[in-house]
Amino acid sequence: MSHAEAHDHHHGPEPGFMRWLKTTNHKDLGALYLMFSLAMFIVGGLMSLVIRAELFTPGMQFVDPQFFNSMTTMHALFMIFGGVMPAFTGLSNYLIPIQLGAPDMALPRINNMGFWILPIAFGMLLSTLFMEGGAPAGGWTLYPPLSMQTGDAMPFLVFSIHLMGISSITGAINVIVTILNLRAPGMDLMKMPLFCWTWLITAFLLIAVMPVLAGAVTMLLTDKYFGTTFFAAAGGGDPVMFQHIFWFFGHPEVYIMILPAFGVVSQIIPTFARKTLFGYSSMVYATAAIALASVIVWAHHMFAVGLPVAAELFFMFAAKMISVPTGVKVFNWVATMWRGSMTFETPMLFSLGFVILFTIGGFSGLMLAMTPVDFQYHDSYFVVAHFHYVLVPGAVFSLFAAVYYWLPKWTGTMYNEKLGKLHFWLSTIFINVLFFPQHFLGLAGMPRRIPDYSLQFAEFNFMSSVGAFAFFITQFIFLYNLITTCRGKWEKATDQVWEGAKGVEWEMLPSPLPYHTFEQQPDLSDYEPHPTH
Ligand code: CU
Repeated sequence: MSHAEAHDHHHGPEPGFMRWLKTTNHKDLGALYLMFSLAMFIVGGLMSLVIRAELFTPGMQFVDPQFFNSMTTMHALFMIFGGVMPAFTGLSNYLIPIQLGAPDMALPRINNMGFWILPIAFGMLLSTLFMEGGAPAGGWTLYPPLSMQTGDAMPFLVFSIHLMGISSITGAINVIVTILNLRAPGMDLMKMPLFCWTWLITAFLLIAVMPVLAGAVTMLLTDKYFGTTFFAAAGGGDPVMFQHIFWFFGHPEVYIMILPAFGVVSQIIPTFARKTLFGYSSMVYATAAIALASVIVWAHHMFAVGLPVAAELFFMFAAKMISVPTGVKVFNWVATMWRGSMTFETPMLFSLGFVILFTIGGFSGLMLAMTPVDFQYHDSYFVVAHFHYVLVPGAVFSLFAAVYYWLPKWTGTMYNEKLGKLHFWLSTIFINVLFFPQHFLGLAGMPRRIPDYSLQFAEFNFMSSVGAFAFFITQFIFLYNLITTCRGKWEKATDQVWEGAKGVEWEMLPSPLPYHTFEQQPDLSDYEPHPTH
């Protein structure tokens, strides 16, 4: 081997783990984020199975109540910060540079750091399960004084939330800098694919509210260890203040998890309806309106805490106002499909499932936002049913849609369509078996975060638990399809993935693929940075 060759060898891609540890490539990091989130979804999913096993039947104790409480807390933290958010950050890494015609994300080293913080944060959080006093068990909202009862796990919890926040904020800064500075010439903001728009707005929300959560948990920490009394009435503090601060973060957090989902669905539906997205600019403005409104509605989580009537009225009307821009979006998706030449491949099925089931979550949200009614539903299983409709057939279905839609582009292999459809239909059936009965449980008065219940709630809890285990098992179909596709087991994907899809007579369809999809970049005014293919 000549000297030059040896030198070259040194600069080639490093083998194994070091290649992934050091990578600054947006596709590598996108893949890492997505794989990490899949692992966290599995861990968080197993925790939810512990919860549903405990609630399978009344009376029986499957785990002890303290551990049950830890499971509700940890399940939420793993799913929100480990599953949904990193998954959308992974998609942002993979898609935004390509959709903008940028060479990479603007800050590649920050990008690497933002990802590698996450395994450390979740390793720390997971380690609390083995600590004296057990894992955090005060619910994911960490309300004092209950959360103060957490033992040695408390500083680990707080520091891991700080790390998750740093990771999210670096990801958000990267998205903003990339979108504002690295768009190809001619790629005006109002020509960007909607996924870029929804992520841009999400990124501003993240920067606005993640530090607020960091502040809230830091105050919990100093109250417990450094003698402050921010939230302790005995020292002149106010436990309700924690709730205000937490929900100032917590409500926008809901939109952080759903706005990128809106972007995904807004790009997939036009492809399979073969029409341009209806109301592109109204989609952008509706997204911005939802984000702005999301920071003035926080106290709708606190109606039962004893707010002044004027405040209850304000937060009720403000919260209901959000349904207007959300309604604009649902209208636009439906109008996009109206008289389109639709086909129903797996990504489209998951997108349609998203629109219908997310809307059910929206409607139950409207019910909860009615102050007098909320006094009845507050802290009941109705709330659990509501936010799981928003987050599972909402955010998670959009992630499935995105993975099926772009996986052929990422891997060069077409996933198995039959397995994809089977995955969709079983998921849709079981997610409703899992969560729909919880509405009835809540209306009948079953409280959330309770490890046992009276006999009257037995049937609906039984149904819900059966649905949970069946839904979890169904995901192995997805896992199998995903792994075999990544290994190239199925047919090669064509250049124009969705035009070349098997079994679809695309030439027979009256209209071509629309703009604002990944398949075809929008018209650029001066020159195209990449030929489309
Ligand atoms: Cu809210």
